[in-house]
Amino acid sequence: MTDTDSASATASPCAARGASAGPLALASRPRRNRNNAVIRQFHSETWLGPQHFILPLFIHAGADRQPIASMPGCDRLSLDAMEAEIAAAWAEGIGGFILFPKIDEHLKSVDGHQCHNPAGLVPQAIARIKRRFPQVQVLTDVALDPYSSDGHDGVVRDGRIVNDETVEILCQQALCHARAGADLVAPSDMMDGRIGAIRKALDAHGFTDVGILAYTAKYASAFYGPFRDALDSAPKFGDKKTYQMDPANRREALRELAADQAEGADMVMVKPAGPYLDVIAAVRAHTTLPVAAYQVSGEYAMIKAACANGWLDERRVVLESLLAIRRAGADVILTYYARQAARWLCE
Ligand code: PBG
Repeated sequence: MTDTDSASATASPCAARGASAGPLALASRPRRNRNNAVIRQFHSETWLGPQHFILPLFIHAGADRQPIASMPGCDRLSLDAMEAEIAAAWAEGIGGFILFPKIDEHLKSVDGHQCHNPAGLVPQAIARIKRRFPQVQVLTDVALDPYSSDGHDGVVRDGRIVNDETVEILCQQALCHARAGADLVAPSDMMDGRIGAIRKALDAHGFTDVGILAYTAKYASAFYGPFRDALDSAPKFGDKKTYQMDPANRREALRELAADQAEGADMVMVKPAGPYLDVIAAVRAHTTLPVAAYQVSGEYAMIKAACANGWLDERRVVLESLLAIRRAGADVILTYYARQAARWLCE
């Protein structure tokens, strides 16, 4: 039905406005600024580029490339495959990589001491990357869960995750990564005081140039499920709610931010990303530090599954999800879609 039809069909003030009545007297017509692609670009507020992405990589000690069932398109990589992956991603414009090791069950322990073995998988991987690609930024996850026989991020005593003893081990882990050549260490454990302790340990050993990307607001989220499949690192008992944050809370994120900032974090992170855009925005508003956000395994798996069913357009949905994370205030995004998104953006 056209405007003219409706004008003659009914007497309602709205519908009665026919062509002859002239245009609505609107002071503002926001659609004028959306008239064409050029004008839309004049005032596009947010942009995405490959330089905004950090690619998480799962590594293992074997020689093969193992698919991860709940994360189609992501594999556990041998160190050779990791090198090949980085070479390809670097060529696509990705400058940063964060490493997650799958540790053999027999190497796991209560205190996760393999996490600071200088001959371990992560130090080997770092050294290989820095030797071949000195400009690549290598980030490492600092937490005990891949190494813990309990599947927790800290040491478990009498069913509790003990803070201060864990922090000492995390310092050794961070130092081990720094010695191997890591550019930034990223503590994801959520123990109290770990940023300050790690900063102090790094500085005391001459690693004043090694940065700390703090997982500042890391929530006790169900969206980490596929990641724990990838590393076989799910908690053997209980959950992570005594250290990771309650998804109900936003103010608490600002308290963590204040602590991490005071303790010397170089960058702060919110995780997960998509369901926590308000937290990203709040953190952005309260810090001048670079803000990172982690589009986690469950966010990836959801998009993948819907697209595999033909229910969503993968390219458009992925780029929109990443743009939204940037719009909320993130500078840099950790995403399993980094390579794919970089390719799409360069098309
Ligand atoms: C480990 C860690 C986790 C993730 C990053 N580092 C899992 C967890 O805390 O249980 C999750 C990342 C993802 O789901 O993609 N401390």
